[in-house]
Amino acid sequence: MNEQAKIDYFTEDGSVAAVNARISGDTHDRLADVMRSLVHHLHAFIKDVELTQEEWGVAIDFLTRTGQMCDENRQEYILLSDVLGASMLVDAINNRRPTGATENTVLGPFHVDGAPEYAMGENITKQGGRETCLFEGHVKDLDGNPVEGARIDVWCDSEDGFYDVQQPDVQPRHNNRGVFTTGPDGRYWFRGIKPVSYPIPDDGPVGQMLTKLGRHPYRPAHMHFIVSAPGFDTVVTHTFVAGDDYLTSDAVFGVKESLIASYEPVEDGETKWRTAYDFVLHRSE
Ligand code: BEZ
Ligand code: FE
Repeated sequence: MNEQAKIDYFTEDGSVAAVNARISGDTHDRLADVMRSLVHHLHAFIKDVELTQEEWGVAIDFLTRTGQMCDENRQEYILLSDVLGASMLVDAINNRRPTGATENTVLGPFHVDGAPEYAMGENITKQGGRETCLFEGHVKDLDGNPVEGARIDVWCDSEDGFYDVQQPDVQPRHNNRGVFTTGPDGRYWFRGIKPVSYPIPDDGPVGQMLTKLGRHPYRPAHMHFIVSAPGFDTVVTHTFVAGDDYLTSDAVFGVKESLIASYEPVEDGETKWRTAYDFVLHRSE
């Protein structure tokens, strides 16, 4: 046998070994593990569906257009990850918490750093709105003790189903966003509007993919929260409006039963709705 015969030439059966054999021994351990597994699963997928040359071309075109859709305001790859359930899976693996601690869900693309800091009770809606709502509750630890100094960063869509950053010429900057900090009793309360369901941006390749798969682009109505406090894991989550039509078919798989909150009508001057939700934080290890 000559020397050449020992080389791993590429074959259909030996495709994974041929590619992974090229990873140098100097490669960072974690990178080598991740890439070996990626190649293994990618090749298994191609073999499983026996991908045609034409389908491969469609995939390359799709990924190209997905990249071309991205700019500083639009991240089509994150949207792709969201609708494939990848974002929620990464989030679940990285945010395992004991029972009773508030669960995470997807951050989404519409969070903005530097939203206004408000005193408790203030209104985050700068545009007004018909379905006015009081949001309230407590931030606690797993033993039920109040958490003082918890920072609560909130944001939601307008009554037309758009975030302020999607309509910079229509909505005031920081409309329906704000940051609140709890006092010694851990209580929070603020005013705003009842969120509405809305479609994720669906005018790009991800939207086209959803249409081809017979999927709608809607998310059930929700209020976003990031709750952080020194010594505790940060919770990135939403509360969802109970009864929303899209709770069981969220385009990005973000709904968890524990995050569904009821909204009660109230007869209280200008406020039409009230929703209460307690956040339970897990101490950092
Ligand atoms: C959001 O809730 O803001 C969102 C999440 C994922 C994709 C698009 C929007
Ligand atoms: Fe949202």
